[in-house]
Amino acid sequence: MGKIPVAVLGATGMVGQKLVHLLRDHPSFELREVVASERSAARPYREAVNWKQEDFIPPGARDLIVKSTEERLESRILFSGLDASVAGAVEEAYARAGHVVVSNSRNHRMDPDVPLVIPEINHDHLALAASQPYKGAIITNSNCSTMFLAMALGPIHRELGIEAVHVTTMQAVTGAGYPGVSSVDILGNVVPYIGGEEEKMESEPLKILGRLDGGRVVPADFTISAQCNRVAVFDGHTEAVSLKLRTRARAEHVASLLAGFRGWPQEVGLPSAPERPIIVFDENDRPQPARDVWKERGMATCVGRIRPCPVFDIKMVVMGHNTIRGAAGAAILNAEAYLAKGYLDR
Ligand SMILES: NC(=O)c1ccc[n+]([C@@H]2O[C@H](COP(=O)([O-])OP(=O)(O)OC[C@H]3O[C@@H](n4cnc5c(N)ncnc54)[C@H](OP(=O)(O)O)[C@@H]3O)[C@@H](O)[C@H]2O)c1
Repeated sequence: MGKIPVAVLGATGMVGQKLVHLLRDHPSFELREVVASERSAARPYREAVNWKQEDFIPPGARDLIVKSTEERLESRILFSGLDASVAGAVEEAYARAGHVVVSNSRNHRMDPDVPLVIPEINHDHLALAASQPYKGAIITNSNCSTMFLAMALGPIHRELGIEAVHVTTMQAVTGAGYPGVSSVDILGNVVPYIGGEEEKMESEPLKILGRLDGGRVVPADFTISAQCNRVAVFDGHTEAVSLKLRTRARAEHVASLLAGFRGWPQEVGLPSAPERPIIVFDENDRPQPARDVWKERGMATCVGRIRPCPVFDIKMVVMGHNTIRGAAGAAILNAEAYLAKGYLDR
C-alpha cells in the first residue's frame, strides 16, 4: 500500500513546523500540502515559513506552494496547527468535505462527539468520531500541559482512583507560538497567567480519563485545581502535582505503577509510540527540561520526585516536550491510532 497523502494546516507556525519536521520519512504518511493564512498563501513554503527548527526544512516540503484555508485539498488526513481564532470553522469545513482532521487546537476538544485522545490512555474514545455529522471526522489531542498531567494521572487513576489534584505549571515560551511572549516580558521573569490554560487543565484530563458509555464520555469524577505560569525555558513544560487518592498507596507503589506502564500503542507498535511512555527518575533533581526534554525523541512523559504529600497523599514533578508529545507528535500518534483501528477506511 502506498503512503497516505497528508496536509499540515498552520504549517508555518510552531506546531505546524514540528509537524512538517516529524512527517519527514514517516512510514505511512506523505506530506503533500501545506496550508496557512493569506499572508503566506501562494508562496513556496521555504519563503513563507520563518523556520525555527534545529534541522533543515525537509526537502519534500521546501518547494510546496502554501495554500490558503479557502482552497480545496486533496489529502485524506489534515494535521491542524491552526491558530485557535480560525481553527474551529476551518476544521469543521474540511471535516464536512470528507477529510479526517487531526487537530492540536482547543476549539473542538470538548465537543461531546469529538474524541480527545491520548492513545496510551483512552484509544477507545476514537470510536466517538463515527457519530459526528461529517463525511470526514475531527479528532483532537489535548492542550500541551494537559498531556503530561493526564498521562501521569492515567495509570494512577485506573489502579487507585483519584479524588483531587492540585497542579502548578512552569511552561516554556515555545508553548505561546511564534513570536510568542516578548523578551522584555519573559527574560529573568515568571508570568503568573496564561489565558485559558487553567480552565483547559481543569477540564480536559477529566474527559480523557472518562469512560465511554453508550456513545458518550462520562467524565472522571474528581476535581483539578491548576495554576499556570510562563517561565524563561525554551522547550518543556514542568508541572508540580499533588494528588489525593481514593485508595491510599505508598510513593514507591505509585512510582512502580508509572515506571511499568505500557499502553495500547506500545503493544501494537505504532510508529511514533515511545518505547517507555512514562520515564520515572530516582534522582532528586530530575526531570529537568534542559536535560530530559528529548527523552524518547520528545515523546516521553518524565516523572520524578514521587514522595508523600502532607496535605494530599502523593506529590511529584512531571515534565515533557510541549511541541512534540504536547502537540505535533501527539497528533501524529493519534492519526496512526486512527489508521491502525481501520477507521480511515470506514
Ligand atoms: N505551541 C504549543 O506548544 C502548542 C501545544 C499544543 C497546542 N497548541 C495549539 O496549536 C495551535 C497552533 O499553535 P502554534 O503555537 O503553532 O501557533 P503559531 O506559531 O502562532 O502558528 C499559527 C498558525 O496558524 C496560521 N494562521 C493564523 N491565522 C490564520 C488565518 N486567519 N487563516 C489561516 N491560518 C492562520 C499561521 O499562519 P501564518 O504564518 O500564515 O500567519 C500559523 O501557521 C494553536 O491552536 C495552539 O493553541 C500549541
